[in-house]
Amino acid sequence: MKTKIIDLTIEKNAYEKIIEAADVLKRGGLVAFPTETVYGIGADAFNEDAVKRVYEAKGRPSDNPMIVHIARASDAGLLADRFSKEFVKLADAFWPGPLTMVLPKKAEVPDCVTGGLDTVGIRLPDSRIAQLLIRFAGTPVAAPSANLSGRPSPTKAEHVIEDLDGKVDVILIGPECRVGIESTVIDMTTSPPCILRPGVVTAEEIEAVLETPIEHGGDSETPRSPGTKYKHYAPEAQMLVVEGAREKVKNEIVRIKTLNENLGLKVGVLLFEERDYLAAAHDFYAALRELDEDGADLILAGALSETDGVGFAVMNRMLKAAGYNIARI
Ligand code: TXA
Ligand code: MG
Repeated sequence: MKTKIIDLTIEKNAYEKIIEAADVLKRGGLVAFPTETVYGIGADAFNEDAVKRVYEAKGRPSDNPMIVHIARASDAGLLADRFSKEFVKLADAFWPGPLTMVLPKKAEVPDCVTGGLDTVGIRLPDSRIAQLLIRFAGTPVAAPSANLSGRPSPTKAEHVIEDLDGKVDVILIGPECRVGIESTVIDMTTSPPCILRPGVVTAEEIEAVLETPIEHGGDSETPRSPGTKYKHYAPEAQMLVVEGAREKVKNEIVRIKTLNENLGLKVGVLLFEERDYLAAAHDFYAALRELDEDGADLILAGALSETDGVGFAVMNRMLKAAGYNIARI
């Protein structure tokens, strides 16, 4: 398949180009597009053939449900018909933005979108390009992250081109993704609601809005968010997360690095600033792609000491990437 790459950061007629991409979606095509979290591969959520082709393009198991993206909150009515007070409060507080809410789905939402579940994950992204694309398409857009299955989520255009050139009809290029990790997913079908995937919209912020504690279902053994059960991105390199007091972690990383370099191995280090968890989220996936490209044999990652808030969301991705390979010191 020939992929049309449209760079909206240099394009003069951006509207025209977004409308062109929206037409591709309407006709059942696949369009990769930027959101504020990571890039997505979009398809018309009501077109089953198109949705099935998204799984093929990613090389992803088809029982893994997709998030459906809308461009205004009222379009949630196309996908679900029961809206709790809690849903309204969270939509008011966090939409548009990096929060996906799981609701009981309407019969009209194809099973292939939801991986056969009777619920649907809905998100209103705050990216301007994403919003315009969805509006012009005139339909909700089912979109998983735009990486090949098993690779880190793409946060820059070059990552999407690397993974999807030749596999989708259009790649829309926008600015680098602001957030860098995927949206928070919260199951609104339970009482209290339950976080299925942590993100930059934190449990603490959600609890403050709902004025009640919520559940953190995260990565339990029998995950309710099926996407969390698949082997997650693991770099080509062995990856080890070093956990402990910051200074000790730094020293330990230097020690293990020297040891392995003396054995002739190439060692990459992932060490983010403490207390700037948004920056860590922003850089995380891009850093993994770079280390892989550099041909690292071993990646040593310093655990963030914060285990709540955005630090928690970054650690969730870091531990998964390392296959829960942890050294506690
Ligand atoms: O930030 C994001 O959410 C990005 C951008 C493109 O919006 N999308 C994304 O999609 O990360 P994906 O497919 O890579 O991850 C979707 C996650 C999976 O963990 C999936 O299991 C969960 O959302 N999910 C989707 N629908 C669900 C449902 N009905 N019930 C439970 N979990 C659901
Ligand atoms: Mg993904």
